[in-house]
Amino acid sequence: MTVATTALKIGIAGLGNVGGGVVKLLAQNADLIARRAGRPIIVSAVSARDRSRDRGVALDGMAWVDDAAELAKRSDVDVVVELIGGSDGPALTLARRTLSAGKPLVTANKAMLAHHGMELAQIAENAGLPLKYEAAVAGGIPVIKGIAEGAAANRITRVYGLMNGTCNYILSRMEAEGLGFAAVLADAQAQGFAEADPSFDIDGVDTAHKLSILAALAFGARIDFAGVAAHGIRAIEPADIEQAAALGFRIKLVGLAEVQDGQLFQRVHPALVPLDHPVATTMGSLNAVVVEGDFVGRLFFQGRGAGAGPTASAVVADLIDIARGDVRPPLVMPVADLAALPRAPAADRRGRYYLRLTVADRAGVLAELTASLRDCGVSIESLVQRGTAANGGAMLVMVTHEAREADVLASLAHMAASPAVAGPPVMMHILDF
Ligand SMILES: NC(=O)c1ccc[n+]([C@@H]2O[C@H](COP(=O)([O-])OP(=O)(O)OC[C@H]3O[C@@H](n4cnc5c(N)ncnc54)[C@H](OP(=O)(O)O)[C@@H]3O)[C@@H](O)[C@H]2O)c1
Repeated sequence: MTVATTALKIGIAGLGNVGGGVVKLLAQNADLIARRAGRPIIVSAVSARDRSRDRGVALDGMAWVDDAAELAKRSDVDVVVELIGGSDGPALTLARRTLSAGKPLVTANKAMLAHHGMELAQIAENAGLPLKYEAAVAGGIPVIKGIAEGAAANRITRVYGLMNGTCNYILSRMEAEGLGFAAVLADAQAQGFAEADPSFDIDGVDTAHKLSILAALAFGARIDFAGVAAHGIRAIEPADIEQAAALGFRIKLVGLAEVQDGQLFQRVHPALVPLDHPVATTMGSLNAVVVEGDFVGRLFFQGRGAGAGPTASAVVADLIDIARGDVRPPLVMPVADLAALPRAPAADRRGRYYLRLTVADRAGVLAELTASLRDCGVSIESLVQRGTAANGGAMLVMVTHEAREADVLASLAHMAASPAVAGPPVMMHILDF
């Protein structure tokens, strides 16, 4: 292929982890990228907050812009790359101005897309512009392309996986080192693997952002972030991890979206995953996404979901598409064709559940608790009572047979009200597919 001399000129807003990585990748692989894209891709302007900061990358020849929104109207910028972050604020202002100025937008910002993706997709579509965001979900893993292109012919009924490297890292270390959640989190923060404010990660919000985007692509639906129930990993104890392993499972923070009977179910929750499932073998900060299509079967994507290199790899792949002239609806289908799917109630879901309670170590307690389950129509597949807890109680772990979720929750509420039970019971889902 001959390389056209007209370069694609980009403006980058945000020169942190990802922005720095994009500058570095475009410089280091410039020749290869130009040959694949059919034209060189050059950075003509950049913006960040602190001009004096050393970013470890050469910014020679690039104009510095103090107000990121200015990038949208510069004549030397053909495409804007938004790498600031945050659902609103300067990132959203820049995104709106870029598309309104008739320029393509590339972003890694899942929070912004989860909240404003429908609006931005509509503006891009009306203007016939690319809006690309491969890096926003699972970092370097080409899962957006996987769904939008590779699996495009399939009816997709389920998409799920591990989309937050921080949670997977914490759970992996808790297992490997037998440490508590708080100790591993503190160490991860000290080493820079977890944010100073880790709540978006550990409370499942970041996974929920990504899941809502994947669900829209997979099911031809409108993005419904508000419809994702998010539960995080704070309540998980080393004893849960140990007990799960003894039962043949590994605990993971799973984001799950399904369509059943025309209803959309979206939830982020810790789940017990069978040890031989590829999701269970995804350790450390790796991400994994599973897509189930009616003709292709189970697709499994695994790789680095974060970090400068992998995320830049996805951002630059989007830029290469734009340089090649690839324009298509941002959410695969025109916005008007996306379904507003009703939300599926969790109450009627059926599955097996892991329950952990701390109970008074005295005769009759077990009979009382199992009666609560029986009265709610929940039967027990296995039950283990483990040594004495710090408060003098005993830890009781149960796995239920398949049961209706509302019935399990009702029995848990009943058990929690018993004077024999100390502290809130813990319930986790068992991934049986
Ligand atoms: N980090 C990852 O591995 C990863 C993976 C996937 C997706 N993402 C997404 O990529 C985006 C960037 O993440 P990051 O980790 O690179 O963040 P980061 O390291 O915190 O960098 C953010 C950058 O934005 C700049 N910035 C902040 N406010 C600004 C403003 N008003 N105008 C111009 N620049 C501004 C900051 O400037 P200063 O440097 O001067 O402070 C900084 O360079 C986020 O949406 C994130 O969710 C990140």
